[in-house]
Amino acid sequence: MVKIQWYPGHMEKARRQMSERLKAVDLVIELRDARIPEASRNPLLNMMAKDKPKLILLTKTDMADPLLTEEWIRFLKKDNVSCLAVDLNKDPHVSRKIIREALKVMKEKRDRQKSRGINPRAVRAMAAGIPNVGKSTMINRIAGKNTLKAADKPGVTRSLTWLHADPDLDLLDTPGVLWPKFDDEKTGSLLAAVGSINDDILDRRMLAMDTIHMIQDLYPGHLEEIYEAEEGTNPNGMLKAIARKRNLVRENNEPDTKRAAEMFLSELRKGRLGRLTLEKPHEEDSEEDLHE
Ligand code: G4P
Repeated sequence: MVKIQWYPGHMEKARRQMSERLKAVDLVIELRDARIPEASRNPLLNMMAKDKPKLILLTKTDMADPLLTEEWIRFLKKDNVSCLAVDLNKDPHVSRKIIREALKVMKEKRDRQKSRGINPRAVRAMAAGIPNVGKSTMINRIAGKNTLKAADKPGVTRSLTWLHADPDLDLLDTPGVLWPKFDDEKTGSLLAAVGSINDDILDRRMLAMDTIHMIQDLYPGHLEEIYEAEEGTNPNGMLKAIARKRNLVRENNEPDTKRAAEMFLSELRKGRLGRLTLEKPHEEDSEEDLHE
């Protein structure tokens, strides 16, 4: 699991590296987790890459709620941004789909160049996003694992290396990493709930209860059914129900809610509780309005 570095120095270094790489890039492929499309974005990316065309990929769509993924795509497209939901692990055609969509984003510009008699060079794209959203998986899928391994030898300093994804598209072999941005406690809980940040520093019982509360709000009755809990069970009661259902009892036969919390988080992260999305778009806004 990713260890979050809180030192401003690390964030500054990541930001500097990102700005440097952006200079060489025509298109930013921004990856976000389809289960938490808002919490898994870093607004700094938009600020740093404001003049660049962008393609948003909602990753891990195999674990997200298909209806809410549709809603998110509609919401994100309101700002005229291209957006695609992807399963980077299991979809055999995922590379093709991403490359096709990336070229579509750049089509107008390339057509303009062609009409002016300029022969456009291959588009240069970079995968960017916070840790754990699937950037390396995507690069591996597009390039094939061996290509990446060869380039990743430690101790070899190298300038930017481009992978030839398509005759018209090159992909930077190193992703742009940005740290997650915690505007509020809820964002932190969401990132920890899906396992995107290390929860060692967090109280897992509290995290589990926050997450249970969020799921109860979005999917009434869902957890009650899985863990055979009464309707209206509060998060603490739900932990007890989980302990009972999963046989987690302490020596005195009391439900072990600490282990129940861990079990719940692990089941959620493995997708064993079904395809759940933990955030809904704010339909009344567009994303640009929200972050002006
Ligand atoms: P990063 O470079 O952005 O940090 O993310 P990375 O590719 O390392 O992916 C983080 C984890 O997310 C990996 O799992 C990866 O397999 C998983 N993942 C990426 N995309 C998808 C997707 O579309 N669907 C699903 N279900 N999972 C995805 P891991 O457990 O850390 O590693 P491993 O089990 O794959 O070895």
